[in-house]
Amino acid sequence: MTTKLLFLGLTAALLSSPASGQEKVLNLYSSRHYQTDEALYSRFTQKTGIQIHRIEAPEDALIERVRNEGAASPADVLVTVDAGRLWRAEQAGLFQPVKSAELERRIPAHLRHPDGLWFGFSARARVIVFNKEAVKAGELRGYEDLAAPKWKGKVCMRSSSSIYNLSLGAALVAHLGEQKTEDWARGVAANFARAPKGGDTDQIKAVAAGECALTLANTYYYARLARSQKPDERAAIAKTGVVWPDQDGRGTHINISGAGVMKHAPHPREAIQFLEYLASDEAQHYFADGNNEYPAVATTKTDNPALAALGTFKPDTLNVSALGRNQPAAQKAFDRAGWR
Ligand SMILES: [Fe+2]
Repeated sequence: MTTKLLFLGLTAALLSSPASGQEKVLNLYSSRHYQTDEALYSRFTQKTGIQIHRIEAPEDALIERVRNEGAASPADVLVTVDAGRLWRAEQAGLFQPVKSAELERRIPAHLRHPDGLWFGFSARARVIVFNKEAVKAGELRGYEDLAAPKWKGKVCMRSSSSIYNLSLGAALVAHLGEQKTEDWARGVAANFARAPKGGDTDQIKAVAAGECALTLANTYYYARLARSQKPDERAAIAKTGVVWPDQDGRGTHINISGAGVMKHAPHPREAIQFLEYLASDEAQHYFADGNNEYPAVATTKTDNPALAALGTFKPDTLNVSALGRNQPAAQKAFDRAGWR
């Protein structure tokens, strides 16, 4: 037996039900690695008697893995971030539709796939972060303002290949059409203070340092810095403010962390039980707070102090499945606009 086969054999032995059939198990493929998730899993096991066997890997690698495993995949549930990525997994044919009155009642329709291929369990918003010395509150009201000539040389942005920008671009394609999205991207790119580089946290720090006046970032990055143990990171946040874009119109662009049941799931019943557990108030708390996100279930209140400090906002209720569907069009618009 080759090493690879031995490895695969071991994986199968670890992940499948024992021959006795006494122990109920769930094989979870997750790109999350938060401490609160441990509590989530052990509570689920306490309540249901279902043991969770977990495989963790980065998002795209995980999707690739399930795809390569094909019909023999032991995966029951895939948990990942960004509707754009759930769409990639959907396009690869990895999910099966789930019909659950509980999930349909708890998860708002715009945060789940119309046919139940996946469900959003927490939400993040993409907000404008500004340097308080360079920008006055009220000077910006929406994403479209980032393209205004008055911000020339003042905008820091991560690359257009970032799935967060692609998903925002996809939402703009849905609302404004491809041409206006391209025009917007061209205007934003013309305002760059520097060539796109780094992640959302780097953009926030660059704004705080005065390297640029404005950027876009996901709320959980902002909240993470605000709650940081490092004084310099909290000081950086103190130099910045946040604009909730498009509050007078369609609402702020949001995205999700979500999960779905795998097409070849060996334990589909346990898989649905797990998704329903994720929609419970208790699990919503653990799931959202592990990454400073907002619970998807509207009645679950967040007690995250950094999110509370940001206040409430009106979210865009475009179905997040559009974020994946329009991703290719968004990428083309960014490319044509010269936003690399
Ligand atoms: Fe992220």
